[in-house]
Amino acid sequence: MNDVSPQTVYLKNYRPVPYLIDEVSLDFSLGPETTQVTSRLSLRPNEAAGMGGAPLVLDGEKLELKAISIDGKPIDTSRYSVNASSLTVAEVPQKPFTLEIVTTCNPKANTELSGLYVSSNIFCTQCEAEGFRRITYFYDRPDVMARYKVRIEGPADTCPVLLSNGNPGATGTIPGTDRHFALWDDPHPKPSYLFALVAGDLAHVADSFVTRSGRKVELRIYVEKGKEDRCAWAMESLKTSMRWDEERFGLEYDLDIFMIVAVSDFNMGAMENKGLNVFNDKYILALPETATDVDYVNIEAIIAHEYFHNWTGNRITCRDWFQLCLKEGLTVFRDQEFTSDIRSRAVKRIADVKLLRANQFTEDGGPLAHPVRPASYIEINNFYTATVYEKGAELCRMMLTLIGRDAFRKAMDLYFERHDGEAATVEDFVRCMADASGRDLNQFFSWYEQAGTPEVIVVEKYNATAKTYDLTLEQVTGPTPGQPDKAPLQIPLGIGLVGSDGDDMPLDLEGVGALNEPLIELTEAKKTFRFRNVARKPVLSLNRGFSAPIRIKSGASMADQLFLMKTDNDTFNRWEAAQTAAHALLRASLDGRKPAADTKSFISALRAVLNDSEVDQAFKALMLGLPGEQEVATLIGRDVDPGAIHQARERLRAEIGSSLKDVLLDLWKKTAAKGAYRPNPDETGRRSLRYAVLYAIAGGDSALGAKLAMNQLANSTSMTDEIGTLSTLVTLDVPERAAALEAFYARHHSDHLIVDKWFALQASAPLAGTNQKVRELMQHRDFKLTTPNRVRSLVGTLSMANPFAFHAEDGEGYAILADTILALDPLNPQIAARMATAFRSWATLEEKRREFAKAQLERIEAQPGLSRDLFEIVSKSLAQ
Ligand code: PHE
Ligand code: ZN
Repeated sequence: MNDVSPQTVYLKNYRPVPYLIDEVSLDFSLGPETTQVTSRLSLRPNEAAGMGGAPLVLDGEKLELKAISIDGKPIDTSRYSVNASSLTVAEVPQKPFTLEIVTTCNPKANTELSGLYVSSNIFCTQCEAEGFRRITYFYDRPDVMARYKVRIEGPADTCPVLLSNGNPGATGTIPGTDRHFALWDDPHPKPSYLFALVAGDLAHVADSFVTRSGRKVELRIYVEKGKEDRCAWAMESLKTSMRWDEERFGLEYDLDIFMIVAVSDFNMGAMENKGLNVFNDKYILALPETATDVDYVNIEAIIAHEYFHNWTGNRITCRDWFQLCLKEGLTVFRDQEFTSDIRSRAVKRIADVKLLRANQFTEDGGPLAHPVRPASYIEINNFYTATVYEKGAELCRMMLTLIGRDAFRKAMDLYFERHDGEAATVEDFVRCMADASGRDLNQFFSWYEQAGTPEVIVVEKYNATAKTYDLTLEQVTGPTPGQPDKAPLQIPLGIGLVGSDGDDMPLDLEGVGALNEPLIELTEAKKTFRFRNVARKPVLSLNRGFSAPIRIKSGASMADQLFLMKTDNDTFNRWEAAQTAAHALLRASLDGRKPAADTKSFISALRAVLNDSEVDQAFKALMLGLPGEQEVATLIGRDVDPGAIHQARERLRAEIGSSLKDVLLDLWKKTAAKGAYRPNPDETGRRSLRYAVLYAIAGGDSALGAKLAMNQLANSTSMTDEIGTLSTLVTLDVPERAAALEAFYARHHSDHLIVDKWFALQASAPLAGTNQKVRELMQHRDFKLTTPNRVRSLVGTLSMANPFAFHAEDGEGYAILADTILALDPLNPQIAARMATAFRSWATLEEKRREFAKAQLERIEAQPGLSRDLFEIVSKSLAQ
């Protein structure tokens, strides 16, 4: 271990701080190797904490303390002490006082990208979750909210731009030196994790936005010089987000300026620092010839997400890090609604559920499973998870479904009214939902505290004489670490009873009457719902719109699934029926059965959808998409053979490709580009169908696929076309492949974001030579362990998006990952730990692979000096 052995932090041990900080004044003197920070804190005893006379213990890491004084007088060394993680001052005044601390840090040596660091000669900070303590000694926890005034001083030539949170103040030069300064003032109290500073030689694009109350806000996006022409989409997305939050939630922006900075070394996607968002440049920069449709949609959604945090996260923040879902789950929910409102709701829902199943369900079924609001952690950075974010968003969505759209909006209004300027808890939030709607949400709260994916088992009984339809539902949530027994949850289930004409029959529920909303609630472990006056035996469409993040186990026949696939009025469940059918075919094929007849009928149902002129192109593309290999593995859950899953999926892909060749070729012709690139829903839908079609065709006939791909490549006008084509081409063992990849590199080698794509393409290939290739690429001059995007592109793609190669029978995929993690941990523990989560399903593998994976985990665990981040993931993964 680094210094002390890792400690577990518990929610139940939360205590308020003994001293509050009202104001912070920070003075930075920037230097790449030595930056000096003078911090002046206005402190006062926190009467409410009832800890009068307690010592003042501030967090601090990797700092050098230069001076310390109270109320202007330096204090004696006997009165304070410093260790690797804190500064303790004894006998501080029991009335308001000022503490001044001078420290230095070394931004250039900071490869962890937490605190103050340098990325391509730009000074940049990252403070969430606990990075501020690497800048100065402070109560580095979200319930300490203070007003910040900042002065930044730096070299005028290399740092012409000096930015921090809030509104800009005076600027000037420092006579007799080559340095200048800038002042910033943030009137809104904030926790330290929202502090930001950026300094460097950056270009910017400017625009403005007039809020609905008529205030003009200046908008700026700062980027590396020469990249200004790649900011238009990000700026457009920002303005769309600002308008949407006013219209949908009545929320306006609250400073004179909103700034975004794009940097190329960043641990995460982006960060919502007050008034000064910092982004991974991958989520800002876009031109049709450099970014794909997926990039465009991600940029739009992430800009929105970070902007929405201004109210859900910043104005109302979290009391402690256990409440992380309070800001993240809610803000993901808000960005999902944003995308649904401005694009296609059905497409967005399907995309989100796919991700939830592949990532969150897998997490929830393994050794790293945790509740949406965890009760303990070792390293908080390990809890920025699919469970906190995506399942957290599902819980907000379920509350909306339960209380209705109007009550949900009232509850949000109430939340802002009650808690603006505060550090709140999940209880506070759910209480607003209950109070605004008059509904009791006590049982619902278990969703926040209980881990695991509930399974709902369905038994149907139709009585033709009595015209009753009995639906018996039983819920089961399996054990997860630390939670062997589970309580029943409140599960909202969208429902339709579909008649043979494809129309929904009326819902007349015994004990309730005609349902206003097509929704039932399962609150017991097991319950039978009796529907009356059901004229004919219905086909059940349950969990419509994916109203709850659960798994359904039903005995529905293949014929029923194919019927729903063609006729369900709920778009989501149409897609869901196709997925369920495909899962059944894959399972049968894995069990060595040959479901020839079912496969044929599935493919003809697919043909009907593809030929249906009422169905839009984006939806056709989704219908054509088979369940991912990870999803299948998670569903199987034990003795998993990823190689066999891959083969089974390839066989189904091949059958679809060859049986539907005529329709697919027709669609290939019909989806050819017309006119200039536009990232709107229609055009994005067209291209998504085009490349889903190419992938299917190539599955049936690789030579034809390669031919079409090469043709398309020669005529590509956008990065979407290039990547769409190459991502199919790399799955094929054809002679064209290598040359196409080489040409792509030659064309784009000077653009780091496209070079990332080049690495990822090669790591994604489900071919025998992939691991060998990845080893080679790790030696490539463009590969750098200190650049998170590069590591994610190569090793992240291999381990998280290429089950075939990662789970290679000889264990080489696991060895590559473990080697990378061990080399990375001393440089960037956050990324090392995140990479290690790819091992989380090791115990569900078949024996041979299980042993290989376990051996690699043990090899990592045995490494002396492991970071707390990596230690937590590896030890929890092995403890099962
Ligand atoms: N809070 C960021 C978000 O919007 C994510 C993040 C977490 C970024 C930690 C950096 C560090 O989701
Ligand atoms: Zn967020």
